[in-house]
Amino acid sequence: MSKPSALNEAFSPGLEGVVAAETAISSVDGDQGELVIRGYAVEDLAPHATFEEVAFLLWHSTFPDRETLNRFRIDLSDRQEIEPHTLALLKSAAVRSVPPMDALRMACGSLATRMADAGSASERSAAAREDALRLIATFPVFVATYHRLSHGLQPIAPRRDLSLAGNFLYMLRGHEPPADEVRALDTYLNTVADHGLNASTFTARVIVSTDSDVVSAVTGAVGALKGPRHGGAPGLALYQVLEVGHADRAAAVLAAKLDRGERLMGFGHRIYRTRDPRADVLNAAAERLFAGGRDRRIYDLARAVEASALQLLRERKPDRVLQTNVEFYTALVLHGLELPTPIFTPVFAMARVAGWTAHCLEQMTANRLFRPESTYIGPRNRRITVI
Ligand code: COA
Repeated sequence: MSKPSALNEAFSPGLEGVVAAETAISSVDGDQGELVIRGYAVEDLAPHATFEEVAFLLWHSTFPDRETLNRFRIDLSDRQEIEPHTLALLKSAAVRSVPPMDALRMACGSLATRMADAGSASERSAAAREDALRLIATFPVFVATYHRLSHGLQPIAPRRDLSLAGNFLYMLRGHEPPADEVRALDTYLNTVADHGLNASTFTARVIVSTDSDVVSAVTGAVGALKGPRHGGAPGLALYQVLEVGHADRAAAVLAAKLDRGERLMGFGHRIYRTRDPRADVLNAAAERLFAGGRDRRIYDLARAVEASALQLLRERKPDRVLQTNVEFYTALVLHGLELPTPIFTPVFAMARVAGWTAHCLEQMTANRLFRPESTYIGPRNRRITVI
C-alpha cells in the first residue's frame, strides 16, 4: 500500500499485540501462566486424555463417547496407508540426507493427490474434514518411515490395534512400546497440540482464508514450524545438558555462557511471564517416565543444570522472571523415550497438526481473508532512463 492511512500509524512489527482472529480453540494467558484448550486447563487435560481424544476435542469442542472414539480411531487407521509416490519421495529424500522437517513437508504436500473433491460449500467442508483426518493419521507414519529410511532400515507398516502414539513408537522401533511410554508420548502430544495464534497456526489460517485447502495450509504450517525461532531448535536444551556433562560443572559452564552473552537454552519465554504451564505438565511426565526403572543419569543431571541455571538467572537478571520453559522438559521427555534429537521437531508437528487442522476448520466457518497493510518506505517519483 503506498497511500498513508490511519492503519499505517498503528504499525506493529510482527503484528505483536494485534488481535487478528477470534478462536474458541485455545487461550494463552502469559501473565497468569495459563493455557486453556477448549475450556480445559492443559494441566488437567494433557496427562489424562489420549491424543486421539484431544484431537477430537480440538475439532469438535467436546470429548467423544466410547463409540464415537472407536469410530474416530478406525477412521484414522483407514487413512494411515503411505502412497507409493510418497514412499518414493521419502526414499529419494533419505538418499540426499534431506532434513526430517523438509522431508515431512514434502510428504505432506504429496497428500494433494488424495485430496477430496471440493466444489460447493458443503463439499468443501466435508473435504476439509477428510483432509484433516488424513493429515493427523499420516504424520506419524511419515516421520517414522523417514527416520527408518534415513538409517538404512525398512519402513514398518502401522498396526490397526495401536493408538497414534503407540503406533509411532512401534513403527520407529519394530516392537510394541510399554504402556508408560505411550502415556508419556500422549502427554507430550496433548501438551503441545495447540497454543493460540502462534506463527505456524497463523500461517495455516492465512492460507485457508484464501479459500485454499487444508493440505496446502498444513504444508505451509510445517514450513513455519521448522524455523529455529518457532519449533526448529528443540535439541539445544538437551545439548546444553550434555555439554555440562557432570552436575559439579553446571554452575561454571552456565556462568561462562552468560559471561559470553549467550542465552541459557530452555529458560525464559516471550509470552509466559510467570510460569509456562506446559513446562509443569512435561516436568511431571518426565519424572514419571524416569521413575519407571530407566537410566536416570541424564534426568538427574538435567535437574542439576536446571537448578544452577535458575539460580544464575535470578542473580544476573533480578528484574526478570526467567523460568524453565517447555523446550527444556520436551527434551527430557523425548530423550527419555529414546527419540533422537533430529526428529524432535517432526514429533512436535505430529502434535500441532491437530491444532492446525482445528484452526483451519474454524477459520473456514467464519472466514475473512487476511490482508494486512504495509507502510511503503521506498523511493517515489523515479523516472525510467532508456539507454
Ligand atoms: N538466558 C539468559 N538470559 C536471558 C534468557 C536466557 N534463556 N532469556 C532472557 N534472557 C534475558 C535477556 O538477555 C534480556 O536481558 P537484558 O534485558 O539484560 O538484555 C532479558 O532476559 C529479556 O530478554 P528478551 O529477549 O527480551 O526476552 P524475551 O522474552 O523476548 O525472549 C526467549 C524470550 C524465549 C527468546 C528468551 O528467553 C530466550 O532466548 N530463551 C532461550 C532460548 C529458548 O529456551 N527458547 C525456547 C523458547 S520456548
